Amino acid sequence: MTTFVTKGPVAEAQYELFMLTVWVTLAVFILVGGVYVVAIIKFRERPNDDRPMPKQGHGNPLVEIGLIGASILLLVVIAVPTLKAIWFTHDTPDDPESYMGSWYPGEGLAEEEAENPLIVRVIGYQWWWAFEYPQLGITTANEMVIPAGKVVHLELRSVDVIHSFWLPRIAGKVDMIPGRANSMWIQAGDNFARWKEKQGLEGDGPELRGQYASYLEEEIHDYYYGQCAEFCGDSHARMLFRATVVGDDEFASWVESEKVGHDAPDGKSWDEWYAIYDQDPDALTGDLNEGLKIFMARGKCATCHVVKGNPRALGVAGPNLTNIGSRMSIAAGWLNHRNEDGSLDTEKQYENFYKWMAESDVVKPGNLMWKASGGGIGELTDDEGQPALLTDEEIHKLSLYLQSLK
Ligand code: CUA
Repeated sequence: MTTFVTKGPVAEAQYELFMLTVWVTLAVFILVGGVYVVAIIKFRERPNDDRPMPKQGHGNPLVEIGLIGASILLLVVIAVPTLKAIWFTHDTPDDPESYMGSWYPGEGLAEEEAENPLIVRVIGYQWWWAFEYPQLGITTANEMVIPAGKVVHLELRSVDVIHSFWLPRIAGKVDMIPGRANSMWIQAGDNFARWKEKQGLEGDGPELRGQYASYLEEEIHDYYYGQCAEFCGDSHARMLFRATVVGDDEFASWVESEKVGHDAPDGKSWDEWYAIYDQDPDALTGDLNEGLKIFMARGKCATCHVVKGNPRALGVAGPNLTNIGSRMSIAAGWLNHRNEDGSLDTEKQYENFYKWMAESDVVKPGNLMWKASGGGIGELTDDEGQPALLTDEEIHKLSLYLQSLK
């Protein structure tokens, strides 16, 4: 999470503006500080000092007008690029190379979207993020995936309080305000034209395209850290997110796997699984079946969470759990299970799932899942209808089931 390593035009524009301001204010600081230090040394009172009081400059029109003029000049020096940067970062650029139709290799894109950039609707919740891809009909949570080098238009909303979207190395920050749609655009890495300009290259052709592709792969494809940047309640500091930047093909296959979702355990279709579940749930054995049964009934997980494929897991109050087993973190980026080399630490992942379900109030104070799952109010009940939190055994099986969603 740094704004000093920029990956893409928006962060770059913001960084340049920041540095310009730093240099201007640094010059002012050195000049004013220098005069101050000279005055202190030169005019300080010494022992047996019988020099007269120095001549006072107060009310000197030349000095006063000069200082006002210099201040205005410096403000103009900062204001002109500031306005330019505000316009630049506000208006989503119209870049044909970013049109969905020109790069998206997947199926099922509506014709009228061919000349639009990818749109991601970011929705803030206390304390997690929903990422909807309306053109592609998918929704994910806390870990967004975007293609490298393409303009992505973000629509920013909130369902509860004000949050703020900040992805330091790529762009920041725009507030997400209830009842209002703000927007911004991001781009991880330069497009072809800008990359050529920076490299001092010209023309087109497979060789140049190849060089551009390896620039994206080596410098831009990565796993980026984001953070909510507006105080939004108890767990504001634990409202993180991730952005995985990938190539076009990888993006398309990710979309496909999000669309298809998951089968029931043991490779059963959902119709088969529910036929047994409704008649004789005890016939469904093994950790994954047990875990799924808890997910559907005792744990009430399906009331708040979607798992794509499962026709009865349709709740939208909580994060979408499709492919949660492939994500590198849970609890909005707060519990990590990604190794430094980018691979998934499955042991750590199990621990994290377990921890989250066992004591989500400790992991993320004030979160809704804790309240909904019985923290203090007894929503979850045992066979006798008495309030009862999940047992260790149940959490164990649920963790295994969630890990299998990949
Ligand atoms: Cu959301 Cu701070």
